[in-house]
Amino acid sequence: MRNALGKTSLVAVVGSGAMGAGIAQVAAAAGHTVKLYDTRPEAVQKAIAGIRKTFGMLAEKGRMTPNEAADAGGRLMAAGDLNDLADAQLVIEAIVENLDVKRQLFADLEKVVAADCILATNTSSISVTALAAKLALPSRFVGMHFFNPVPLMALVEVISGLGTDAQVASRIFDTAIAWGKVPVHAKSTPGFIVNRVARPYYAEALRLLNEQAASVATIDAVMREAGGFRMGPFELMDMIGHDVNFAVTQSVFSAYFNDPRFTPSLVQQELVNAGFLGRKSGRGFYRYDDGSKPEPV
Ligand code: NAI
Repeated sequence: MRNALGKTSLVAVVGSGAMGAGIAQVAAAAGHTVKLYDTRPEAVQKAIAGIRKTFGMLAEKGRMTPNEAADAGGRLMAAGDLNDLADAQLVIEAIVENLDVKRQLFADLEKVVAADCILATNTSSISVTALAAKLALPSRFVGMHFFNPVPLMALVEVISGLGTDAQVASRIFDTAIAWGKVPVHAKSTPGFIVNRVARPYYAEALRLLNEQAASVATIDAVMREAGGFRMGPFELMDMIGHDVNFAVTQSVFSAYFNDPRFTPSLVQQELVNAGFLGRKSGRGFYRYDDGSKPEPV
């Protein structure tokens, strides 16, 4: 791609959870050296080990050569602190969905990286304009919103805030194509495109459950079989993580001046309170702890 980041450009990923690990995998497979950082060093180690294992499995299936898998795995590096990211040409943030925490991270990053380094956020819902507003160089700030699981989901929303330079957005758009993705431009509105359209899908399913209209498993099965969705709403929320999904709903609700259409669910709030975050914690609307087929709780 004409305008894409060159393969020799170093990509940094901050936050090495589900999304950060997936983004790092895609960037390394596309030929970049990738540095991963997380406030929990064990998350970085887990992500790198997991991605290398995945590359090994792809080689076994013939979808990469063994050399390609070894090379891509070798391009992943752990960063001990933010200063290690000084030589990055693109930083993609995938940390907790919280405006103040993300803002602090980008303020810290701006002290470390070069003036031409692009700063990107994988936020699901927070205003890209607001995240950029306090930066010295808001023009280099853009949303690069991947979907879960990143290696399998083609779509990337490239989100421009009011201060984003059009060249920066187009560079990220072309980079997404070079990484095998299908990007779409979007403006910084609450939830952007997909998370906006998806809010009523989750909300109505949660309301149906509240009204005891049908069970979790029945609603999921109906949406799969009759709705043609790959996953039902409860399966999908369990995969996304209730902490993340609830934070996104709160963010959209608040950004829309508490529009009742986006009211967060008390059922989901209780799941978060209990630490039943979905697949990642072994329990959400389903149980995953024994490794067998998920069972409704
Ligand atoms: P996660 O909980 O799996 O991972 C977040 C990671 O960030 C954790 O390892 C945590 O230790 C780390 N972290 C937290 N604060 C940090 C900081 N200040 N500096 C460095 N590391 C920090 O979360 P997940 O699911 O990967 O989501 C991350 C971001 O991606 C959120 O903004 C979320 O809204 C967005 N997102 C999530 C999707 C999903 O389906 N889970 C889909 C698309 C976007």
